[in-house]
Amino acid sequence: MPDPAKELFIELRGLHKGIGAQKILRGVDLTVFRGETLVIIGPSGEGKTVLMKHVIGLMRGDAGEVIVDGVHVEKLRERELKPVRQKVSMMFQNAALFDSMTVEENIAFPLVESGVRDREEIRKRVREALEVVDLAEHGEKLPVNLSGGMRKRAGIARAIVGRSQCILYDEPTASLDPLVSDVIDQMILRLQKRYGITSLVVTHDMKSMYKIANRVAMLKRGVIHFIGTPDELTNCPDQEVQDFIQGRSGVTA
Ligand SMILES: Nc1ncnc2c1ncn2[C@@H]1O[C@H](COP(=O)(O)OP(=O)(O)O)[C@@H](O)[C@H]1O
Ligand SMILES: [Mg+2]
Repeated sequence: MPDPAKELFIELRGLHKGIGAQKILRGVDLTVFRGETLVIIGPSGEGKTVLMKHVIGLMRGDAGEVIVDGVHVEKLRERELKPVRQKVSMMFQNAALFDSMTVEENIAFPLVESGVRDREEIRKRVREALEVVDLAEHGEKLPVNLSGGMRKRAGIARAIVGRSQCILYDEPTASLDPLVSDVIDQMILRLQKRYGITSLVVTHDMKSMYKIANRVAMLKRGVIHFIGTPDELTNCPDQEVQDFIQGRSGVTA
């Protein structure tokens, strides 16, 4: 049971979203508490990325509510979303760095965009963000000269440089080897521990989920099919949950 004393940070209520004829979200109810790491699992194509995009108003629901730190995001116009996107940053699947900019310039980008002009202030905050992700020595490199894991860390640095309170990670360890995945997991834990950052993480990586999750939710058929602690997930008697976490497809050779 969630602790009633915990403060709500993100709340989705009855969120519905169709794209074309396809009904993707069919009444998603979900709460994320301030400072927790909530991991979302579920089959590909179920709408995990779509769900995340609603949190920062990159996608708009057909019905339902999206509340971030007390603000109804679904009622905001595009230009009113800026404060929400400063509070909550999303790290996209490919880290989405600009190829022609150095790592430092990439990380400075959201600061410049949000109107910070003081070059010394920008330099200081970029340095801090690079140190948090252990990339202090690599700020002058171009993204093309970084490994996959370093690119992800640069993406994390860019997400935290504006002092976001919450980060949405879309498959942060996808296509990384187990050691590099562990580094990313440790970064997520570090941000929670040092800065109390709230995280919403979509992943297929069960090992990573068990390392970082305070709670885990499974999206299936457009609704939250399961939500609980990692222990509760492990012991959940539901067949579909067990098939997913143990990687049983039902297909035979
Ligand atoms: N912009 C879009 N246009 C059309 N279909 C989309 C768009 N975004 C997502 N979809 C569809 O919505 C479904 C859910 O997508 P997604 O949220 O990316 O799944 P997941 O992240 O769980 O793998 C998929 O069937 C996908 O093809
Ligand atoms: Mg996705």
